Amino acid sequence: MKSPSQENKIEKPQNLALVIFGATGDLTYRKLIPAVYDLFNQKMLPEKFYILAIGRKELSNDSFRKKMINGIRKFSESIYQNDEQIEAFVSYLSYFRMDFQDATEYQRLRDALQNCDITNGTQSNYLFYLSLPPSLFGPIAGFLGQVGLNDETHGFSRLIIEKPFGYDLESGRALNNQLHEDFIESQIYRIDHYLGKETVQNLLVMRFANGIFEPLWNRNYIDHIEVTSAESIGVEGRGGYYDGSGALRDMLQNHLLQMVCLTAMEPPSSMAADSIRNEIFKVLQSLKPIREDEVNTHVIRGQYVASHVRGEAITGYREEKDVDPESRTETYVAMKFFIDNWRWGGVPFYIRTGKRLPTRVTEVVVHFKPTPHGLFQGDKACRSCNQLIIRIQPDEGILLKFAMKNPGAGFDVKTVNMDFHYSDLSHEHLPSAYERLIYDAMIGDSTLYARADAVEAAWKFVEPVQKVWASDPDQKIHGYPAGTWGPENADDLVSNGDSSGWRYPCKNLADDGNYCEL
Ligand code: BG6
Repeated sequence: MKSPSQENKIEKPQNLALVIFGATGDLTYRKLIPAVYDLFNQKMLPEKFYILAIGRKELSNDSFRKKMINGIRKFSESIYQNDEQIEAFVSYLSYFRMDFQDATEYQRLRDALQNCDITNGTQSNYLFYLSLPPSLFGPIAGFLGQVGLNDETHGFSRLIIEKPFGYDLESGRALNNQLHEDFIESQIYRIDHYLGKETVQNLLVMRFANGIFEPLWNRNYIDHIEVTSAESIGVEGRGGYYDGSGALRDMLQNHLLQMVCLTAMEPPSSMAADSIRNEIFKVLQSLKPIREDEVNTHVIRGQYVASHVRGEAITGYREEKDVDPESRTETYVAMKFFIDNWRWGGVPFYIRTGKRLPTRVTEVVVHFKPTPHGLFQGDKACRSCNQLIIRIQPDEGILLKFAMKNPGAGFDVKTVNMDFHYSDLSHEHLPSAYERLIYDAMIGDSTLYARADAVEAAWKFVEPVQKVWASDPDQKIHGYPAGTWGPENADDLVSNGDSSGWRYPCKNLADDGNYCEL
Protein backbone atom coordinates (compact mmCIF):
# COMPACT_ATOMS: atom_id res chain seq x y z
CA MET A 1 0.00 0.00 0.00
CA LYS A 2 1.26 3.54 -0.72
CA SER A 3 2.17 5.57 2.33
CA PRO A 4 0.14 8.76 2.84
CA SER A 5 3.08 10.90 1.67
CA GLN A 6 2.97 9.15 -1.69
CA GLU A 7 -0.73 9.85 -2.10
CA ASN A 8 -2.08 11.60 -5.17
CA LYS A 9 -1.69 15.31 -5.04
CA ILE A 10 -4.98 17.16 -4.69
CA GLU A 11 -5.35 19.32 -7.75
CA LYS A 12 -7.88 19.80 -10.48
CA PRO A 13 -6.65 17.86 -13.51
CA GLN A 14 -6.64 19.52 -16.92
CA ASN A 15 -7.62 16.29 -18.65
CA LEU A 16 -9.93 13.47 -17.68
CA ALA A 17 -12.02 10.61 -19.03
CA LEU A 18 -14.88 9.57 -16.75
CA VAL A 19 -15.73 5.96 -17.52
CA ILE A 20 -19.11 4.86 -16.18
CA PHE A 21 -19.82 1.12 -16.01
CA GLY A 22 -23.55 0.43 -15.80
CA ALA A 23 -24.45 3.53 -17.78
CA THR A 24 -27.94 2.36 -18.69
CA GLY A 25 -28.89 1.99 -15.02
CA ASP A 26 -30.99 4.23 -12.86
CA LEU A 27 -28.13 5.72 -10.85
CA THR A 28 -26.42 7.06 -13.98
CA TYR A 29 -29.68 8.53 -15.24
CA ARG A 30 -30.92 10.08 -12.01
CA LYS A 31 -27.78 11.01 -10.13
CA LEU A 32 -24.44 10.71 -11.92
CA ILE A 33 -25.03 12.46 -15.24
CA PRO A 34 -27.17 15.24 -13.70
CA ALA A 35 -24.43 15.80 -11.07
CA VAL A 36 -21.67 15.97 -13.70
CA TYR A 37 -23.83 18.32 -15.75
CA ASP A 38 -24.16 20.60 -12.71
CA LEU A 39 -20.35 20.57 -12.36
CA PHE A 40 -20.08 21.43 -16.06
CA ASN A 41 -22.24 24.50 -15.50
CA GLN A 42 -20.07 25.63 -12.63
CA LYS A 43 -16.99 25.21 -14.85
CA MET A 44 -15.65 22.65 -12.41
CA LEU A 45 -14.78 20.01 -15.00
CA PRO A 46 -11.29 19.67 -16.46
CA GLU A 47 -10.63 21.61 -19.64
CA LYS A 48 -10.37 18.41 -21.69
CA PHE A 49 -13.09 16.15 -20.50
CA TYR A 50 -14.93 13.15 -21.89
CA ILE A 51 -17.42 10.60 -20.61
CA LEU A 52 -17.37 7.04 -21.87
CA ALA A 53 -20.62 5.45 -20.79
CA ILE A 54 -20.45 1.65 -20.80
CA GLY A 55 -23.50 -0.57 -20.97
CA ARG A 56 -24.42 -4.04 -22.13
CA LYS A 57 -27.43 -3.01 -24.19
CA GLU A 58 -27.25 -2.33 -27.91
CA LEU A 59 -27.82 1.44 -28.08
CA SER A 60 -26.80 4.17 -30.48
CA ASN A 61 -24.95 7.22 -29.22
CA ASP A 62 -27.93 9.32 -30.16
CA SER A 63 -30.50 7.39 -28.21
CA PHE A 64 -28.20 7.23 -25.17
CA ARG A 65 -27.65 10.99 -25.29
CA LYS A 66 -31.39 11.55 -25.61
CA LYS A 67 -32.00 9.51 -22.49
CA MET A 68 -29.36 11.46 -20.59
CA ILE A 69 -30.87 14.78 -21.74
CA ASN A 70 -34.10 13.56 -20.26
CA GLY A 71 -32.39 12.73 -16.96
CA ILE A 72 -30.68 16.12 -16.84
CA ARG A 73 -33.99 17.90 -17.42
CA LYS A 74 -35.61 15.93 -14.65
CA PHE A 75 -32.90 15.73 -12.02
CA SER A 76 -30.30 18.44 -12.42
CA GLU A 77 -30.49 21.78 -10.62
CA SER A 78 -33.20 23.96 -12.07
CA ILE A 79 -30.90 26.99 -12.22
CA TYR A 80 -28.78 25.16 -14.78
CA GLN A 81 -31.61 24.12 -17.11
CA ASN A 82 -30.60 25.52 -20.44
CA ASP A 83 -31.03 23.74 -23.80
CA GLU A 84 -27.83 25.04 -25.33
CA GLN A 85 -25.78 24.06 -22.31
CA ILE A 86 -27.36 20.60 -22.24
CA GLU A 87 -26.57 20.08 -25.95
CA ALA A 88 -23.00 21.26 -25.39
CA PHE A 89 -22.61 18.91 -22.43
CA VAL A 90 -23.89 15.75 -24.12
CA SER A 91 -21.43 16.25 -26.98
CA TYR A 92 -18.78 15.12 -24.44
CA LEU A 93 -20.60 11.85 -23.96
CA SER A 94 -20.27 8.56 -25.89
CA TYR A 95 -21.95 5.24 -25.38
CA PHE A 96 -19.71 2.17 -25.48
CA ARG A 97 -21.30 -1.26 -25.67
CA MET A 98 -19.43 -4.08 -24.01
CA ASP A 99 -19.95 -7.14 -21.86
CA PHE A 100 -18.04 -6.06 -18.79
CA GLN A 101 -18.04 -9.58 -17.39
CA ASP A 102 -15.99 -10.81 -20.33
CA ALA A 103 -12.25 -10.37 -19.73
CA THR A 104 -11.48 -10.40 -23.45
CA GLU A 105 -13.50 -7.22 -23.97
CA TYR A 106 -11.09 -5.09 -21.94
CA GLN A 107 -8.48 -4.85 -24.67
CA ARG A 108 -11.13 -3.12 -26.77
CA LEU A 109 -11.91 -0.78 -23.88
CA ARG A 110 -8.24 0.10 -23.50
CA ASP A 111 -8.02 0.86 -27.23
CA ALA A 112 -11.11 3.05 -27.00
CA LEU A 113 -9.59 4.98 -24.11
CA GLN A 114 -6.28 5.39 -25.92
CA ASN A 115 -8.26 6.70 -28.85
CA CYS A 116 -10.13 9.05 -26.52
CA ASP A 117 -6.77 10.35 -25.24
CA ILE A 118 -5.81 11.28 -28.80
CA THR A 119 -9.16 12.63 -29.96
CA ASN A 120 -10.32 14.35 -26.78
CA GLY A 121 -7.05 15.05 -25.03
CA THR A 122 -7.89 13.06 -21.90
CA GLN A 123 -4.20 12.11 -21.44
CA SER A 124 -4.50 8.79 -19.61
CA ASN A 125 -6.32 10.25 -16.61
CA TYR A 126 -9.14 7.79 -15.97
CA LEU A 127 -11.86 7.80 -13.35
CA PHE A 128 -13.79 4.51 -13.43
CA TYR A 129 -17.21 4.64 -11.79
CA LEU A 130 -18.60 1.15 -11.17
CA SER A 131 -22.33 1.73 -11.00
CA LEU A 132 -22.88 -2.04 -10.83
CA PRO A 133 -23.81 -4.80 -8.38
CA PRO A 134 -21.05 -5.23 -5.76
CA SER A 135 -20.33 -8.80 -6.84
CA LEU A 136 -18.74 -7.28 -9.97
CA PHE A 137 -16.40 -4.83 -8.19
CA GLY A 138 -13.60 -7.34 -7.60
CA PRO A 139 -13.72 -9.02 -11.03
CA ILE A 140 -13.85 -5.70 -12.92
CA ALA A 141 -10.95 -4.26 -10.94
CA GLY A 142 -9.07 -7.42 -11.96
CA PHE A 143 -10.00 -7.09 -15.66
CA LEU A 144 -8.91 -3.43 -15.69
CA GLY A 145 -5.64 -4.48 -14.08
CA GLN A 146 -5.03 -7.21 -16.65
CA VAL A 147 -4.93 -4.68 -19.50
CA GLY A 148 -2.94 -2.11 -17.53
CA LEU A 149 -5.80 0.32 -16.97
CA ASN A 150 -4.76 0.51 -13.29
CA ASP A 151 -1.36 1.87 -14.30
CA GLU A 152 -0.49 5.40 -13.22
CA THR A 153 2.72 5.94 -15.18
CA HIS A 154 1.26 8.42 -17.65
CA GLY A 155 -1.80 9.68 -15.79
CA PHE A 156 -4.00 8.57 -12.92
CA SER A 157 -6.41 5.68 -12.65
CA ARG A 158 -9.08 5.84 -9.94
CA LEU A 159 -11.91 3.54 -9.10
CA ILE A 160 -15.19 4.68 -7.53
CA ILE A 161 -17.43 2.06 -5.97
CA GLU A 162 -20.58 2.38 -3.94
CA LYS A 163 -21.81 0.34 -0.99
CA PRO A 164 -22.50 -2.39 -0.02
CA PHE A 165 -18.82 -3.20 0.51
CA GLY A 166 -19.46 -6.83 1.38
CA TYR A 167 -22.22 -8.14 3.60
CA ASP A 168 -20.17 -9.03 6.70
CA LEU A 169 -16.62 -8.80 8.02
CA GLU A 170 -15.33 -11.75 6.03
CA SER A 171 -16.78 -10.68 2.68
CA GLY A 172 -15.83 -7.03 3.34
CA ARG A 173 -12.23 -8.11 3.89
CA ALA A 174 -12.31 -10.38 0.86
CA LEU A 175 -13.52 -7.50 -1.32
CA ASN A 176 -10.76 -5.21 -0.04
CA ASN A 177 -8.16 -7.89 -0.69
CA GLN A 178 -9.49 -8.48 -4.17
CA LEU A 179 -9.43 -4.75 -5.00
CA HIS A 180 -5.93 -4.39 -3.55
CA GLU A 181 -4.62 -7.03 -5.94
CA ASP A 182 -4.82 -4.49 -8.77
CA PHE A 183 -5.40 -1.09 -7.19
CA ILE A 184 -3.63 0.50 -4.23
CA GLU A 185 -5.76 2.06 -1.52
CA SER A 186 -5.19 5.63 -2.67
CA GLN A 187 -6.71 4.74 -6.06
CA ILE A 188 -9.94 3.43 -4.51
CA TYR A 189 -12.82 5.77 -3.70
CA ARG A 190 -15.60 4.09 -1.69
CA ILE A 191 -18.73 6.20 -1.70
CA ASP A 192 -20.82 6.60 1.40
CA HIS A 193 -23.20 9.18 0.02
CA TYR A 194 -23.93 10.51 3.52
CA LEU A 195 -20.41 11.91 3.62
CA GLY A 196 -21.25 13.85 0.48
CA LYS A 197 -24.08 15.68 2.23
CA GLU A 198 -23.27 19.30 2.99
CA THR A 199 -24.81 19.03 6.45
CA VAL A 200 -22.78 15.93 7.37
CA GLN A 201 -19.60 17.80 6.42
CA ASN A 202 -20.82 20.71 8.48
CA LEU A 203 -20.51 18.51 11.56
CA LEU A 204 -16.75 18.95 11.18
CA VAL A 205 -16.96 22.70 10.74
CA MET A 206 -19.43 23.16 13.55
CA ARG A 207 -17.25 21.21 15.94
CA PHE A 208 -13.82 22.40 14.90
CA ALA A 209 -14.37 25.99 13.80
CA ASN A 210 -16.18 27.01 17.00
CA GLY A 211 -14.25 27.22 20.22
CA ILE A 212 -17.37 27.12 22.37
CA PHE A 213 -18.27 23.48 21.76
CA GLU A 214 -15.00 21.69 22.41
CA PRO A 215 -14.88 22.24 26.21
CA LEU A 216 -18.39 20.78 26.48
CA TRP A 217 -17.97 17.97 23.98
CA ASN A 218 -17.23 15.11 26.35
CA ARG A 219 -18.46 12.83 29.10
CA ASN A 220 -18.41 15.64 31.68
CA TYR A 221 -21.16 17.65 29.99
CA ILE A 222 -22.89 15.32 27.57
CA ASP A 223 -25.50 12.93 28.90
CA HIS A 224 -26.16 10.92 25.76
CA ILE A 225 -26.25 11.21 22.00
CA GLU A 226 -28.95 10.11 19.55
CA VAL A 227 -28.56 9.57 15.84
CA THR A 228 -31.71 8.98 13.83
CA SER A 229 -32.14 8.33 10.16
CA ALA A 230 -35.84 7.81 9.51
CA GLU A 231 -37.47 7.20 6.16
CA SER A 232 -41.16 7.35 5.41
CA ILE A 233 -40.81 5.30 2.23
CA GLY A 234 -40.80 1.51 2.13
CA VAL A 235 -38.53 -0.63 -0.03
CA GLU A 236 -39.75 1.05 -3.24
CA GLY A 237 -39.40 -1.85 -5.66
CA ARG A 238 -35.97 -2.82 -4.24
CA GLY A 239 -37.38 -5.77 -2.27
CA GLY A 240 -35.01 -8.23 -3.95
CA TYR A 241 -31.92 -6.34 -2.76
CA TYR A 242 -33.33 -5.21 0.56
CA ASP A 243 -34.53 -8.61 1.71
CA GLY A 244 -30.94 -9.86 1.55
CA SER A 245 -29.66 -6.78 3.32
CA GLY A 246 -31.89 -5.24 6.00
CA ALA A 247 -31.48 -1.99 7.93
CA LEU A 248 -28.34 -3.06 9.81
CA ARG A 249 -26.34 -3.57 6.62
CA ASP A 250 -28.13 -1.04 4.46
CA MET A 251 -27.92 1.98 6.77
CA LEU A 252 -26.43 1.34 10.21
CA GLN A 253 -23.08 -0.26 9.34
CA ASN A 254 -22.25 2.64 7.03
CA HIS A 255 -24.27 5.89 7.08
CA LEU A 256 -25.16 5.87 10.79
CA LEU A 257 -21.72 4.86 12.00
CA GLN A 258 -20.12 7.52 9.79
CA MET A 259 -22.30 10.15 11.45
CA VAL A 260 -21.33 8.78 14.87
CA CYS A 261 -17.67 9.04 13.88
CA LEU A 262 -17.90 12.66 12.78
CA THR A 263 -19.76 13.51 15.98
CA ALA A 264 -17.35 11.67 18.27
CA MET A 265 -13.93 11.96 16.61
CA GLU A 266 -10.98 13.87 18.01
CA PRO A 267 -9.89 17.04 16.19
CA PRO A 268 -7.71 15.98 13.25
CA SER A 269 -4.22 17.44 12.99
CA SER A 270 -5.11 18.96 9.60
CA MET A 271 -7.79 18.75 6.94
CA ALA A 272 -5.66 16.28 4.94
CA ALA A 273 -7.65 13.20 3.92
CA ASP A 274 -5.71 10.78 6.07
CA SER A 275 -5.69 13.01 9.15
CA ILE A 276 -9.47 12.96 9.10
CA ARG A 277 -9.76 9.34 8.12
CA ASN A 278 -7.35 8.31 10.89
CA GLU A 279 -9.60 9.97 13.47
CA ILE A 280 -12.69 8.31 11.98
CA PHE A 281 -10.95 4.96 12.15
CA LYS A 282 -9.97 5.54 15.79
CA VAL A 283 -13.61 6.04 16.76
CA LEU A 284 -14.56 2.79 15.04
CA GLN A 285 -11.72 0.99 16.81
CA SER A 286 -12.94 2.37 20.14
CA LEU A 287 -16.55 1.21 19.82
CA LYS A 288 -17.20 -1.05 22.77
CA PRO A 289 -17.98 -4.45 21.28
CA ILE A 290 -21.51 -5.66 21.89
CA ARG A 291 -21.23 -9.17 23.26
CA GLU A 292 -23.42 -11.86 21.76
CA ASP A 293 -25.29 -12.22 25.07
CA GLU A 294 -26.04 -8.47 25.01
CA VAL A 295 -27.52 -8.36 21.53
CA ASN A 296 -31.03 -8.95 22.79
CA THR A 297 -30.94 -6.00 25.18
CA HIS A 298 -28.78 -3.58 23.17
CA VAL A 299 -30.25 -4.03 19.72
CA ILE A 300 -33.91 -3.95 18.74
CA ARG A 301 -35.04 -4.92 15.29
CA GLY A 302 -38.41 -4.51 13.72
CA GLN A 303 -40.34 -5.04 10.53
CA TYR A 304 -43.23 -2.90 9.32
CA VAL A 305 -46.66 -4.42 9.02
CA ALA A 306 -49.63 -3.22 6.98
CA SER A 307 -51.38 -0.13 8.23
CA HIS A 308 -53.14 3.05 7.19
CA VAL A 309 -51.07 6.19 7.03
CA ARG A 310 -52.94 9.48 6.62
CA GLY A 311 -55.83 7.63 5.04
CA GLU A 312 -53.68 5.56 2.66
CA ALA A 313 -53.44 1.77 2.95
CA ILE A 314 -49.78 0.74 3.25
CA THR A 315 -48.63 -2.79 2.45
CA GLY A 316 -46.67 -4.70 5.08
CA TYR A 317 -43.03 -5.54 4.37
CA ARG A 318 -43.70 -9.25 3.86
CA GLU A 319 -46.27 -8.44 1.19
CA GLU A 320 -43.84 -6.24 -0.79
CA LYS A 321 -42.73 -7.39 -4.25
CA ASP A 322 -39.70 -9.74 -4.24
CA VAL A 323 -39.78 -10.12 -0.45
CA ASP A 324 -40.00 -13.55 1.14
CA PRO A 325 -43.49 -13.83 2.74
CA GLU A 326 -41.78 -15.28 5.82
CA SER A 327 -38.90 -12.86 5.77
CA ARG A 328 -37.13 -12.04 9.05
CA THR A 329 -35.23 -9.15 7.51
CA GLU A 330 -35.34 -6.03 9.70
CA THR A 331 -36.68 -2.79 8.25
CA TYR A 332 -35.91 -1.04 11.54
CA VAL A 333 -32.97 -1.26 13.89
CA ALA A 334 -32.12 0.64 17.06
CA MET A 335 -28.92 0.14 19.00
CA LYS A 336 -27.35 1.32 22.23
CA PHE A 337 -23.58 1.29 22.57
CA PHE A 338 -20.60 3.04 24.14
CA ILE A 339 -17.31 4.38 22.92
CA ASP A 340 -14.46 3.25 25.11
CA ASN A 341 -12.14 6.23 25.23
CA TRP A 342 -11.36 9.17 27.51
CA ARG A 343 -13.75 11.55 25.83
CA TRP A 344 -16.79 9.31 25.74
CA GLY A 345 -16.40 6.63 28.43
CA GLY A 346 -19.86 5.92 29.91
CA VAL A 347 -21.85 8.13 27.49
CA PRO A 348 -24.57 6.06 25.79
CA PHE A 349 -25.03 6.48 22.05
CA TYR A 350 -28.48 5.55 20.74
CA ILE A 351 -28.84 5.13 17.02
CA ARG A 352 -31.85 4.06 14.97
CA THR A 353 -32.98 3.81 11.41
CA GLY A 354 -36.04 2.46 9.72
CA LYS A 355 -38.32 2.44 6.74
CA ARG A 356 -42.00 3.38 6.85
CA LEU A 357 -41.55 5.62 9.88
CA PRO A 358 -43.77 8.69 10.20
CA THR A 359 -41.46 11.09 8.37
CA ARG A 360 -38.13 11.41 6.59
CA VAL A 361 -35.64 12.88 9.01
CA THR A 362 -31.94 12.45 9.68
CA GLU A 363 -30.42 14.19 12.69
CA VAL A 364 -27.88 14.01 15.48
CA VAL A 365 -29.12 15.08 18.90
CA VAL A 366 -26.61 15.93 21.60
CA HIS A 367 -28.26 15.88 25.04
CA PHE A 368 -26.32 17.87 27.60
CA LYS A 369 -26.43 16.98 31.28
CA PRO A 370 -28.95 18.80 33.48
CA THR A 371 -27.87 21.26 36.16
CA PRO A 372 -26.64 19.45 39.29
CA HIS A 373 -29.43 20.92 41.39
CA GLY A 374 -32.98 21.81 40.25
CA LEU A 375 -33.48 25.34 41.59
CA PHE A 376 -36.69 26.14 39.83
CA GLN A 377 -40.14 24.70 40.17
CA GLY A 378 -42.00 23.36 37.20
CA ASP A 379 -38.99 22.60 35.07
CA LYS A 380 -39.87 18.94 34.57
CA ALA A 381 -39.39 19.45 30.87
CA CYS A 382 -35.86 20.44 31.70
CA ARG A 383 -34.44 17.02 32.47
CA SER A 384 -32.89 17.30 29.04
CA CYS A 385 -33.18 21.04 28.72
CA ASN A 386 -30.11 21.64 26.63
CA GLN A 387 -30.11 19.80 23.35
CA LEU A 388 -28.11 20.60 20.28
CA ILE A 389 -29.85 19.19 17.24
CA ILE A 390 -27.86 18.91 14.06
CA ARG A 391 -30.39 18.37 11.31
CA ILE A 392 -28.93 16.56 8.31
CA GLN A 393 -32.19 16.51 6.31
CA PRO A 394 -34.76 17.92 5.58
CA ASP A 395 -34.99 21.54 6.75
CA GLU A 396 -31.23 21.35 7.12
CA GLY A 397 -29.94 23.38 10.02
CA ILE A 398 -29.01 23.51 13.67
CA LEU A 399 -31.20 23.99 16.73
CA LEU A 400 -30.17 24.70 20.29
CA LYS A 401 -32.68 24.21 23.07
CA PHE A 402 -32.27 25.95 26.35
CA ALA A 403 -34.30 27.03 29.37
CA MET A 404 -35.79 30.51 29.77
CA LYS A 405 -37.97 32.18 32.32
CA ASN A 406 -41.62 32.14 31.43
CA PRO A 407 -42.69 35.80 31.45
CA GLY A 408 -44.80 36.69 34.47
CA ALA A 409 -44.77 36.15 38.16
CA GLY A 410 -42.50 33.60 39.80
CA PHE A 411 -39.78 31.58 38.14
CA ASP A 412 -41.50 29.29 35.73
CA VAL A 413 -39.08 27.70 33.33
CA LYS A 414 -39.73 26.72 29.76
CA THR A 415 -37.56 25.42 26.95
CA VAL A 416 -37.03 27.64 23.93
CA ASN A 417 -35.33 27.19 20.58
CA MET A 418 -32.55 29.01 18.82
CA ASP A 419 -32.29 27.85 15.24
CA PHE A 420 -30.35 28.28 12.01
CA HIS A 421 -31.71 26.98 8.69
CA TYR A 422 -29.62 26.44 5.57
CA SER A 423 -32.54 27.81 3.59
CA ASP A 424 -31.55 31.24 4.96
CA LEU A 425 -28.57 30.95 2.67
CA SER A 426 -30.89 30.56 -0.31
CA HIS A 427 -28.46 32.41 -2.59
CA GLU A 428 -25.89 29.62 -2.08
CA HIS A 429 -26.01 26.54 -4.26
CA LEU A 430 -25.95 23.42 -2.04
CA PRO A 431 -24.20 20.81 -4.14
CA SER A 432 -25.74 17.34 -4.29
CA ALA A 433 -23.80 14.54 -2.60
CA TYR A 434 -22.80 13.08 -5.98
CA GLU A 435 -21.70 16.43 -7.31
CA ARG A 436 -19.37 16.89 -4.36
CA LEU A 437 -18.08 13.33 -4.35
CA ILE A 438 -17.42 13.04 -8.08
CA TYR A 439 -15.59 16.35 -8.01
CA ASP A 440 -13.46 15.20 -5.07
CA ALA A 441 -12.51 11.97 -6.84
CA MET A 442 -11.56 13.99 -9.92
CA ILE A 443 -9.18 16.15 -7.94
CA GLY A 444 -7.86 13.22 -5.89
CA ASP A 445 -9.35 14.20 -2.52
CA SER A 446 -10.44 11.09 -0.65
CA THR A 447 -11.41 12.82 2.62
CA LEU A 448 -15.09 12.06 2.16
CA TYR A 449 -14.59 8.48 1.02
CA ALA A 450 -14.54 5.44 3.27
CA ARG A 451 -11.13 3.85 3.78
CA ALA A 452 -10.65 0.06 3.73
CA ASP A 453 -9.73 -0.21 7.42
CA ALA A 454 -12.79 1.83 8.46
CA VAL A 455 -15.14 -0.35 6.43
CA GLU A 456 -13.70 -3.46 8.06
CA ALA A 457 -13.85 -1.95 11.56
CA ALA A 458 -17.53 -1.13 11.02
CA TRP A 459 -18.23 -4.69 9.91
CA LYS A 460 -16.36 -6.00 12.94
CA PHE A 461 -18.57 -3.93 15.24
CA VAL A 462 -21.84 -5.26 13.80
CA GLU A 463 -20.58 -8.84 13.45
CA PRO A 464 -21.90 -10.16 16.81
CA VAL A 465 -25.35 -8.81 15.95
CA GLN A 466 -25.30 -10.48 12.56
CA LYS A 467 -24.15 -13.73 14.14
CA VAL A 468 -26.83 -13.81 16.80
CA TRP A 469 -29.61 -12.88 14.39
CA ALA A 470 -28.45 -15.53 11.93
CA SER A 471 -27.98 -18.32 14.45
CA ASP A 472 -30.79 -17.84 16.91
CA PRO A 473 -34.26 -18.15 15.39
CA ASP A 474 -35.78 -17.12 18.70
CA GLN A 475 -34.29 -13.62 18.56
CA LYS A 476 -37.28 -11.37 18.34
CA ILE A 477 -38.20 -9.29 15.36
CA HIS A 478 -40.95 -6.90 16.41
CA GLY A 479 -43.70 -5.86 14.06
CA TYR A 480 -44.57 -2.15 13.93
CA PRO A 481 -47.42 -0.60 11.99
CA ALA A 482 -46.21 1.35 8.97
CA GLY A 483 -46.22 5.06 9.76
CA THR A 484 -45.21 4.67 13.43
CA TRP A 485 -41.87 5.21 15.15
CA GLY A 486 -40.90 1.53 15.16
CA PRO A 487 -41.33 -1.16 17.82
CA GLU A 488 -42.28 0.01 21.28
CA ASN A 489 -39.39 -2.00 22.72
CA ALA A 490 -37.03 0.50 21.15
CA ASP A 491 -38.24 2.94 23.81
CA ASP A 492 -36.95 0.60 26.52
CA LEU A 493 -33.45 1.00 25.11
CA VAL A 494 -33.39 4.68 26.03
CA SER A 495 -35.60 4.77 29.10
CA ASN A 496 -32.85 3.83 31.50
CA GLY A 497 -34.01 6.28 34.11
CA ASP A 498 -31.38 8.85 33.20
CA SER A 499 -32.48 9.99 29.82
CA SER A 500 -35.56 11.56 28.34
CA GLY A 501 -36.27 8.98 25.64
CA TRP A 502 -35.99 9.35 21.88
CA ARG A 503 -36.71 12.67 20.29
CA TYR A 504 -39.62 12.28 17.89
CA PRO A 505 -38.70 14.80 15.22
CA CYS A 506 -41.05 16.61 12.89
CA LYS A 507 -40.39 17.54 9.29
CA ASN A 508 -39.46 21.07 10.25
CA LEU A 509 -36.50 21.35 12.56
CA ALA A 510 -38.00 23.74 15.05
CA ASP A 511 -41.51 22.25 15.23
CA ASP A 512 -42.28 20.28 18.33
CA GLY A 513 -44.61 20.47 21.24
CA ASN A 514 -48.11 21.13 19.97
CA TYR A 515 -47.44 21.31 16.28
CA CYS A 516 -45.71 18.64 14.24
CA GLU A 517 -45.93 18.43 10.47
CA LEU A 518 -44.76 15.04 9.22
C1 BG6 B 1 -29.12 4.13 0.72
C2 BG6 B 1 -29.91 2.93 1.14
O1 BG6 B 1 -27.76 3.93 0.98
O2 BG6 B 1 -29.57 5.26 1.46
C3 BG6 B 1 -31.41 3.17 0.92
O3 BG6 B 1 -29.52 1.81 0.36
C4 BG6 B 1 -31.84 4.44 1.63
O4 BG6 B 1 -32.18 2.07 1.39
C5 BG6 B 1 -30.93 5.59 1.24
O5 BG6 B 1 -33.18 4.71 1.22
C6 BG6 B 1 -31.24 6.80 2.08
O6 BG6 B 1 -30.52 7.90 1.58
P1 BG6 B 1 -31.03 9.38 1.80
O7 BG6 B 1 -29.95 10.23 1.18
O8 BG6 B 1 -32.36 9.49 1.10
O9 BG6 B 1 -31.15 9.57 3.27
